[in-house]
Amino acid sequence: MKGDIGVIGLAVMGQNLILNMNDHGYKVVAHNRTAEKVDDFLQGPAKGTNIVGAYSLQELVDKLESPRKIMLMVRAGDVVDSFIDKLVPLLDKGDIIIDGGNTNFPDTNRRVAALKEKGIHFIGSGVSGGEEGARFGPSIMPGGSPEAWPFVKPIFQAISAKTENDEPCCDWVGNDGAGHFVKMVHNGIEYGDMQLITEAYQFMKDGLGMTHDEMQSVFIEWNKTELNSYLVEITSDILGYKDTDGEPLVEKILDTAGQKGTGKWTGINALDMGIPLTLITESVFARCLSSLKDQRVEAEELFGKKESIVEGDKQVWIEALRQALLASKIISYAQGFMLMREASNENGWDLNYGNVALMWRGGCIIRSAFLSNIRDAYDIDSELSFLGSDSYFKGILENSMSAWRKVAAKSMEVGIPMPSMTSALTFLDGYTTARLPANLLQAQRDYFGAHTYERVDKPKGEFFHTNWTGKGGDVSSTTYNS
Ligand code: 6PG
Repeated sequence: MKGDIGVIGLAVMGQNLILNMNDHGYKVVAHNRTAEKVDDFLQGPAKGTNIVGAYSLQELVDKLESPRKIMLMVRAGDVVDSFIDKLVPLLDKGDIIIDGGNTNFPDTNRRVAALKEKGIHFIGSGVSGGEEGARFGPSIMPGGSPEAWPFVKPIFQAISAKTENDEPCCDWVGNDGAGHFVKMVHNGIEYGDMQLITEAYQFMKDGLGMTHDEMQSVFIEWNKTELNSYLVEITSDILGYKDTDGEPLVEKILDTAGQKGTGKWTGINALDMGIPLTLITESVFARCLSSLKDQRVEAEELFGKKESIVEGDKQVWIEALRQALLASKIISYAQGFMLMREASNENGWDLNYGNVALMWRGGCIIRSAFLSNIRDAYDIDSELSFLGSDSYFKGILENSMSAWRKVAAKSMEVGIPMPSMTSALTFLDGYTTARLPANLLQAQRDYFGAHTYERVDKPKGEFFHTNWTGKGGDVSSTTYNS
């Protein structure tokens, strides 16, 4: 009997996905560039299963049922291209290559188009949930050649996480690089959620002078509210974790954040598309700022930074902080969905936002109860332009407003940096202001560069230039948006 699917790449994610597929009754053929890794896997975790090995790409191809489904679980970038180049001559028309790595979506766009010319189907799929997710149920976000989906669907939906109603956290996302695009936004939101949690932690630790055990209890309590999520849950575990000397391990960790680039891609994409994705982008910059450790240490001394004590009833502040975190999180998701909406319109992907929320409901790093409410919001209005306008989320934003402002103002007053929580509030203030000062900005542009402006008392699309100084002349420059 031939194999149902081949997997290339036996690092931990690849191995765990294979074991997961095997658990669900699929016969998997496993390949790795280094033969030793195949042997180690077959004699180790795969021992006693139906998993078979392949020591060359030809052997892998020969051992698979048609149309062949070959999933690459290798490092994103050139390695993917190199495997595709080697596989294509060995494949038949109608065969399917799947890239399950964290690939930048324009690469997937390019690969789908290039392989289509050769009659090979290509799927670029986000896979989230880390090692444990891959083993027991990840969130899977596939997109690319739609013809390939019916062949891959049973396997992916079987191995994916399930919601509380047993719905698979995996569905077809859309054409081209849509799957990898949605995974990129997932990661951007992951950056935002993590940053917001760290801001709450710093406010509690430095502002309220709370101990780690106290903070752990707060996160445990928060996890019973609308904030219920994997990231809040692991934060409570982390805060309670003691090093060998009994001190909280988290305080021994150097405060410089790493990043592999997916959050940055999300920010760059938002700038390209002109979407105000402020919270995620602030979260990326917060990681960049954290990495300037030496400069920060010097600057603290240079500016003689004072301790940031927050006076007042601790419990009242903790509740205010909870509300500020929740409201900011709504803004972050609202911005992320705005970005997806723009990309969907620009690329003709026809994204189903309710389905995206469902795919993120379980298995992935940002999994949370909150995503069910997002799904409900898109069930009510599939083209909702701002998540915060949905009655459930609007209610929370309104109820949290005063606490959110108090936290933001206090953080500014005492000098606790909360870039994401404060920028979320600023965004909402801007979004809910019918008249912003961009009229003055347009006047400045026209004044120094004859860039023209539209008038409130004339139809949109009609452009005017004023000779502000009487010296500049009446010739205006052309208008365009870059
Ligand atoms: C996931 C994660 C994962 C990502 C890590 C690290 O969905 O399982 O998003 O894909 O690689 O979270 O990302 P950074 O190194 O950029 O923080």
